[in-house]
Amino acid sequence: MREDLDLTRVPQHVAIIMDGNGRWAKQRGMLRVQGHRAGLETLREVVRHSQRLGVKYLTVYAFSTENWKRPQDEVSGIFKLVVKYVQSELAELCANNVHVSVLGDWDALGVPEESKESLRKLIGTTKENTGLHFNIALNYGGRAEIVNAVNKILAEGLDKIDEQTLSDHMYTAGMPDPDVIIRTSGENRLSNFLTWQSAYSEIVLTPVFWPEFTNDEYEKCIVEFQKRDRRFGGHK
Ligand code: FPP
Repeated sequence: MREDLDLTRVPQHVAIIMDGNGRWAKQRGMLRVQGHRAGLETLREVVRHSQRLGVKYLTVYAFSTENWKRPQDEVSGIFKLVVKYVQSELAELCANNVHVSVLGDWDALGVPEESKESLRKLIGTTKENTGLHFNIALNYGGRAEIVNAVNKILAEGLDKIDEQTLSDHMYTAGMPDPDVIIRTSGENRLSNFLTWQSAYSEIVLTPVFWPEFTNDEYEKCIVEFQKRDRRFGGHK
């Protein structure tokens, strides 16, 4: 581990926009879906390293509501990787006490049935686990999440709400907001990720493409977070 990393001040909730798989593949004359495959290897390692670091919540952006605009073979390639991930990782996730949630409209029409089945199994098998909370945002959009929360509130017949009410109806109900949002590949947008929850999150950007995001890069991002002075609107 890096010497400049303070293990007593590791963020409780880390959220990641895993960007740059396509460009990484293109640079190598490979297909985009091969980039996503390489990205999945990175994800495996990041889940493992989050546990070593003592991160309590890890949320990754796997597929946005906008990603449907991509070519059909790329979309189906990503959903096949979901199946592959569950096949290869479920035993280890269970052995490590990882609790997996899926944020977003993952049960929607259009999501392949085999992917839904894998996700149901992943959620069901890990639901009693009490270790790392690993959230996969899939068919997720931040604005859609807010609209969904408001509709749930209306259906409950509430006529007066506050911020807590909204938080309690988000996919992340009961979880702390992300302390830090990391985005790889040099882009500096939030792209409809955790729109409600990111109000006070630190944003850490790295130029590295997601398939090249090593544990050391991950630690560098946390060190960068630790250098920031979080005031939540107040002052010292
Ligand atoms: C962004 O790179 C990456 C994605 C849209 C997909 C990421 C998905 C995975 C790593 C696999 C998901 C599977 C599980 C189980 C979570 P990009 O394609 O936007 O890259 P580019 O900006 O270079 O084109």
